[in-house]
Amino acid sequence: MVSRESSIPDIDLKNIPVHVGCVMDGNGRWAKMRGLPRTEGHGAGEVALLDAVDGALDLGIKWLTVYAFSTENWRRPPEEVRYLMGFNKNLLRNRRDYLNGRGVRIRFSGRRDWRVPRSVAKEIDSATELTRANRTLTLTIAFNYGGRAEIVDAVKKIIQDGTSARSVDEKTIAKALYYPDAPDPDLVIRTSGEFRISNFLLWEIAYSELIFQDVLWPDFRKEHLFEAVREYQRRNRRYGGLGGGS
Ligand code: IPE
Ligand code: IPE
Ligand code: MG
Repeated sequence: MVSRESSIPDIDLKNIPVHVGCVMDGNGRWAKMRGLPRTEGHGAGEVALLDAVDGALDLGIKWLTVYAFSTENWRRPPEEVRYLMGFNKNLLRNRRDYLNGRGVRIRFSGRRDWRVPRSVAKEIDSATELTRANRTLTLTIAFNYGGRAEIVDAVKKIIQDGTSARSVDEKTIAKALYYPDAPDPDLVIRTSGEFRISNFLLWEIAYSELIFQDVLWPDFRKEHLFEAVREYQRRNRRYGGLGGGS
């Protein structure tokens, strides 16, 4: 394999975002444009996800979090919801060995409530178990995930732990989120030309760079990720201060 240092033009490999979040949007529109049922768009998104993972590995990104199903997506027609459940289950079953071979740790973020079919939960557990020792890239799949639900769950945990109100600070909340070991995302990409967050990682994205791309998710390829990273590298992150060099 070509060393990753030399293979990607115009990207500074010393300034790669550590954690990238991705709102994989536009599957339905992609299908509609082709006169296909919406579910075909979800199916076509699998290739895009694998290419995005590949691109993340090329760049040496350590954490990739992808939004696969939101707490609001249950509002969709039952056939589409059913398709998405089965699709995610099959994707895991078919791809876990490949991802495991590439050093990817797979894990899930979201609520495991009664609506998540047992067979899907089982597949989630076996993919998680199989890949748990991997550290090249952590691929977190946000599934039945909502940023507000995550904060609600964190507050519940804090209260259940008997934490006193006066001792609660930002660290207390950050530590009670689903994955306190993950750094906050440096970069969040949303595809399909929508300019919104739709309840993705609300707490964690306080200072993330947001990049919106027109590409519909099934057409997303690693080159779109590279383009987003190039734009990220042109940004000046200030965190409320004055920033480097200004
Ligand atoms: C994103 O594509 C996938 C999920 C939300 C599960 P959409 O299904 O939202 O596609 P559009 O936005 O309707 O085109
Ligand atoms: C966000 O996309 C959720 C996922 C990509 C899984 P949606 O398509 O559900 O978001 P809205 O409805 O356009 O805000
Ligand atoms: Mg959408």
